[in-house]
Amino acid sequence: MIKLPRPSASLFRGEADRGGVSAGGHKFDAARRAYLDSDERRSYLDPDRILRAFRLTRGMRVADIGTGTGFFAIPAARIVGPSGKVYAVDLVPEMLEELQAKLAREPVPNLEALRSTEDRIPLADASTDFAFLACVLHELDGPGTLLECRRILTRTGRLGIVDWKKEDMEFGPPKAHRLDEEEARSILRDAGFHPTTTFEAGRYHYGIEARIRRA
Ligand SMILES: C[S@@+](CC[C@H](N)C(=O)[O-])C[C@H]1O[C@@H](n2cnc3c(N)ncnc32)[C@H](O)[C@@H]1O
Repeated sequence: MIKLPRPSASLFRGEADRGGVSAGGHKFDAARRAYLDSDERRSYLDPDRILRAFRLTRGMRVADIGTGTGFFAIPAARIVGPSGKVYAVDLVPEMLEELQAKLAREPVPNLEALRSTEDRIPLADASTDFAFLACVLHELDGPGTLLECRRILTRTGRLGIVDWKKEDMEFGPPKAHRLDEEEARSILRDAGFHPTTTFEAGRYHYGIEARIRRA
């Protein structure tokens, strides 16, 4: 059992007793959204390092699906620069409102917040170079969101996944909700992706890169 010896560890453990927004009951509780941007989280999940590991570069069009409060989307917008664009997508209005409040304080001109549903991402076909799901794969209710990622990606586009390792921890989602790397790769394959690389994204997280599988 991995312990995070800080008093606020209980904040994220609260994922287990969320009010619940999905039939599957695996969704992050929006009431705890402040944790997503906390220094504690930043100490074990470094958004810049992870996005660079996925080879984000200037000019790319990125969709951060399940953006939450923009923990990854804002640094991604800095990396892709003014010639690129980041779409920060989430299905929970409170998350997007928090992100909009941040953007009102510190505008990020190449970042746009968009509301999605489980089965619909409001972006055009083949409009995205990189679709990213950080701590979201284990929350999905069925294949709809991944099929939408496939639709919005260009032929050479890439999908990036970061998710919790399936280990006992006193924080983060319950182990029963987590996916190990092979379960995650299998879900990606079922949705028509070909996982290419798996790597350590942090002490508690793995990363997977995938491409659209061609018949
Ligand atoms: C644990 S939070 C992670 C937020 C952000 N990716 C991060 O790492 O800071 C998961 C987020 O995914 C969103 N989410 C869950 N399922 C989703 C889906 N099918 N489509 C879009 N957003 C989703 C939730 O509303 C929540 O904001």
